[in-house]
Amino acid sequence: MIMSKDLTTSEGQPWSDNQHSQTAGQRGPVLIQDYQLLEKLAHFNRERIPERVVHAKGSGAKGYFELTHDMSAYTKADLFNGKGKKTPLITRFSQVAGESGYPDTYRDVRGFAVKFYTQDGNYDIVGNNTPVFFINDPLKFPDFIHSQKRDPKTHTRSQDMQWDFWSHSPETLHQVTILMSDRGIPASYRTMHGYGSHTFKWVNDKGEQFFVKYHFRTNQGVHNMSNELAAKLCGDDPDYLQNELFNSIEEKDFPSWTLYVQVIPYEEGLNYKHDIFDVTKVVSQKDYPLMEVGQMVLNENPENYFEEMEELAFSPANLVPGIEPSADKVLQGRLFGYKDAARYRLGANYDQLKVNRPVNEVNNYHRDGFMSQGHDGSANYEPNSVNGPTEVPSAKTTPDQLAGETGHFKPYDTDNVSAAGELYRLFDEGEKERLVENIKNNLGQVKSRDIKVLEAKQFYQADPEYGESVATALGLSVDEIK
Ligand code: HEM
Repeated sequence: MIMSKDLTTSEGQPWSDNQHSQTAGQRGPVLIQDYQLLEKLAHFNRERIPERVVHAKGSGAKGYFELTHDMSAYTKADLFNGKGKKTPLITRFSQVAGESGYPDTYRDVRGFAVKFYTQDGNYDIVGNNTPVFFINDPLKFPDFIHSQKRDPKTHTRSQDMQWDFWSHSPETLHQVTILMSDRGIPASYRTMHGYGSHTFKWVNDKGEQFFVKYHFRTNQGVHNMSNELAAKLCGDDPDYLQNELFNSIEEKDFPSWTLYVQVIPYEEGLNYKHDIFDVTKVVSQKDYPLMEVGQMVLNENPENYFEEMEELAFSPANLVPGIEPSADKVLQGRLFGYKDAARYRLGANYDQLKVNRPVNEVNNYHRDGFMSQGHDGSANYEPNSVNGPTEVPSAKTTPDQLAGETGHFKPYDTDNVSAAGELYRLFDEGEKERLVENIKNNLGQVKSRDIKVLEAKQFYQADPEYGESVATALGLSVDEIK
């Protein structure tokens, strides 16, 4: 009989020798009847799966969300109703462009993704550590990411490609300013804020609709890293942010964030001074102040990185009753992108993997496919007369009134510069100097003078002082960027 700790094959048979292949005589050759050897080599060949096409490098932890302020006036979502309610969750923090072995402290936007295991199914906020994004149309996403990743010829990262794309896509200006600021290299995943970035819709049990923006504000305070330390850590400890998060949780120094929302009444949102469906823009906190919602605490590390981080699949389409998408075009594109990516990366039944399973029962008529498990002989078709699961009419989404012609439209809000200028003017002198220095270190490497001029012109339009400082740092004349 097999005892606990006995070595076995994957089919549970006892395994007598894991150090020496079975051979014909002491000096070989190896026998094909050594099926343990064949199984071991064959399984090893299949250990790697496709990495995420973006956000491949990352790590995260588990914990809970505790509701400190009942939000039922604005949303019927279970996790935001009933002060004191605790909802288990898992997070993953990441960088955008690097591959899965990339150094953690490279300048990049950081992903901030949270999966809430609510009583009404999984709810994901798949955000970043920035309140805005580079582009405002999903059609541009693959081109944008190509420019961030490796050059097709040299297979190296390229400042030329990334600034070529940015300088010809002026809507990126706000996010580029954030990326080149101190926040481009967080000192720790624990010391950065997180944002849902898009505008989402909340609906209460009366059917009233509101637009919301999510803000996770770090309770550890925002801390960033100098370029010098970041460069040193790229060599000394490429997994620095991962180690730092893991070790702090092992040492029971649990990081936490306070979740706030900006709540915007539906009609006001539609008529706001900026297009609130444009993810390159923010909603002013002066107009809609932050309202506290609850606390997110991370108190448990994954037991197995592969099963809990690699097999973890987030999607902005994972919504629960009371939370709906807005018309934000980038969000709409993302509603397709992530589940499609998960099917490619993890397979058609990725949602049956342990980390992706909701805490409530799953009842539907999807069946079979690679690795399917957990189904019995119950009906696999609808309508049926054998007591199969039935629809939940109360879960239907709320209507929006739409009008207009179909077409390929440019964004109607073409102000790409004001927000970057406002942000620049919020920086103190030291922050402004470091921002310009970072732009010089990055844009300064670009071979094309035209790209430098084009980008500096946009900084100038955002704020003349900003543009002039960049021009001077790059050795351009101020006249040519005006
Ligand atoms: C049209 C725009 C976008 C598209 C098509 C897109 C697509 C994707 C894809 C395919 C993945 C990999 C998913 C996987 O393999 O599991 C991903 C990951 C991610 N994206 Fe996006 N993305 C877009 C914009 C954004 C924006 C605006 C944000 C933040 C506000 C964002 C945040 C993230 C995060 C945090 C991850 C990593 C999730 C994880 O940890 O598994 N993305 N994106």
